This record gives sequence, structure tokens and C-alpha cells, in this order.
Amino acid sequence: MLFPGQYATMMTWKRVLGSFFGVCRRKSRPGVRKFDLKADSRQERISPPCPILMPKGENRGECPRSDSDMFQSLQDSLVLNNGVRIPCLGYGTWQTPEGVAKEGTLAALRAGYRLIDSASGYGTEADVGSAVRESGIPREEIFVTTKHWIDSRGYTKTIEAAETSLKTLGLDYIDLYLIHWPCVSRTAEKWKEINAGTWRGFEKLYRDGKIRAIGVSNFLPEHIKALEETAEILPSVNQIEFHPGYDQPALVQWCQNHGIVVEAWSPLGCGAVLSNPILSGLSKKYGRTEAQICLRYALQKNVIPLSKSTHADRIVSNAQIFDFDITEDDMLTIATMPPVGYSTYHPAEAPADSLFGGSLDID
Ligand code: A2P
Repeated sequence: MLFPGQYATMMTWKRVLGSFFGVCRRKSRPGVRKFDLKADSRQERISPPCPILMPKGENRGECPRSDSDMFQSLQDSLVLNNGVRIPCLGYGTWQTPEGVAKEGTLAALRAGYRLIDSASGYGTEADVGSAVRESGIPREEIFVTTKHWIDSRGYTKTIEAAETSLKTLGLDYIDLYLIHWPCVSRTAEKWKEINAGTWRGFEKLYRDGKIRAIGVSNFLPEHIKALEETAEILPSVNQIEFHPGYDQPALVQWCQNHGIVVEAWSPLGCGAVLSNPILSGLSKKYGRTEAQICLRYALQKNVIPLSKSTHADRIVSNAQIFDFDITEDDMLTIATMPPVGYSTYHPAEAPADSLFGGSLDID
């Protein structure tokens, strides 16, 4: 999630104030130990129903599943509804300053992450692109996501925006391209037509082979349903705010029932969740950091967490979430804990448009 320019400034202040009031308290716990499994809840985990990306109305077909129906390593993946595989854990770059995002991405790639999330609105595309190019890892082994910003809505501007992103990334193709924020009724009477124009641009880019999968971010079911009225290709992914204390179960369930893979932005609630007493209790019980509990929680909900940190040791430890399971009871405890860490950016309130005023082109 995020906004360019002024937003970065605003977030700097937010972080400064957050640290001051202890909202963004960070904590690391060295020396993680392996948790002894009492109950293996993996068998109960629901694989996203899914399938092939389909022209509207076409049968969704056989549901592809994750490699082994459970995630055992950073290299495990989910199959999107067009057959493309997406790694089950990603490295995010929101709020990461220029330059730092390159170091962070390189550290993440060294630690084994193969999904890197960026956005034109984050100002991190150049860093991500050069890290991918300089990593020495074959391009096809890295899954690069970027997002289309609200200033480029409509068919023509969407095509131009994607070309600009490709140039800034310095890559020949993007693995996953997302509409960063929907245009909603609060912003424009013709919000459906505006999103439809943008989506037509996405479909063209996809058909031209410049993008391997297309999706959305911060979309509610009503926005996806509206898109489906004219779409020829359905979204593969919806990236939403998701963390203990704000995990939007109805939205997640709806997306997964519709074959849309859910990704979690701010899986640690911008760090605010890390000082929560329920999480701290579970951290002690499992011998894991609070961050690892949050990220594992997402995985066990079949949600792909986009973990981000500017510290190399945290980048490594945040990926050490494949050798323990949170029991069903503890999953329930997290799912029903009091709200915490909510960003206040609800799509229906059009936070991005309110702050920056997106373009309202329909073409
Ligand atoms: P830092 O970059 O200093 O590590 P979210 O992904 O929910 O938006 O949260 C990101 C925030 O959480 C960042 O401020 C990041 O700070 C912090 N963070 C990430 N991993 C950890 C960790 N393992 N322990 C403590 N804080 C963390």
C-alpha cells in the first residue's frame, strides 16, 4: 500500500510520531528455536479454490494447489488462476527509502526470498530492478510485482504507466502488475467505467506478454464484481491489508472462493502488532518472534505475506517460518483478538484519492 511524494513525507512523520508514542515499537528476538509440533493443523488448511484464468463465464476447471498442499520452504508456491506460480512469501518495499530498497532486496534475495513487491507509488522500482539484475539469480527465478498508480487511470495512461515501470525496473517483463487502488463511488460517479478502462489496459499488456499475471490491490468484492462485468480476464491476486488484529476474514474468504490469491500488505500491522500481549504470549509459547507468528498466521490462512524490514537479520528471521505450525486453537485466538494495527486506509473511503486525487480518465 502506499502513495508517492507527499505521502512518503507524511509517512516519515507518521513513523517519527509512531516511534515517539511507541506505536511502532519494534522488537527482535534472537535465537529462534524449533517448535515441537503437538498438533499438525496443516491437513486442515484450505487450499484456495481456484483456476485458470478464464474468460468470463468459462468453467474454472480443476483447482491447482500449492506444491505439496502445504508450505515447507521459501521456494514453495501457489498457482494463480492463469497457471503462473507465485512464491508463498514475499519481500515488500513500501516505505523503504531509495537506496535502502536495493540493499534490502539484495539481502532478501540472498536469504532466499523469490517474490519482491514494489510499486510505482513507492519509488522503489529502480532499486528493485537493479537488485534483481545484480543478484546473479536468473531472472525467471524471481517473481517481481509492481503496481499501477492512481494518476494513470484509463486505458491509454495505463499502457504508458506500465512502459514507464518496465523502463524504471530495467526489466523485460513484470511478473505481476496490480491496480494499486480502485476508483470508488465516493470519488467518481463513473468509477466502474474508470476501473474498466484501466483493466482493459492490463488485459492488453498481459496479452502482449509484458506481464505474466494481472491483479488488483485494496479491492472490495463490489469493485471486483464490477470489473467482472466487462473483464475478459479475471484478476489473479488481490493485495490487501492483512495482519493479526485486522485480517478481513470476509474479504479473504470471498477472494479465495473466487480463485483470487490474497497477498498481505503490512503483515505486522506496520509494527504496531508486535507489542500486542496476545502475540507476545504466543511468541513465548512457540519460541518465535512476534513477527514470525504474524507471518506464519498469514501463511496458514493461505495468504501470501509481504514481509518488509530494512534490517538484514530481520529479513532472514522473518523467513524462518517454515518449521513450525500454529495450532488450530491458537489460530482461532489470533483470529478473534481485539482490533490492532489497522492503518485506517479503507478502500471505500478512497484514501489515496482523498490525499492525491487520482486521474478520472475512462478511455
Ligand atoms: P525495520 O525496517 O526497522 O525492521 P509491516 O510489514 O506490517 O508494514 O511492518 C513493517 C515494520 O515492521 C517496519 O517498521 C519494520 O522495521 C518492522 N519489522 C519488520 N520485521 C521485524 C522484526 N522481525 N522485528 C521487529 N520489527 C520488524
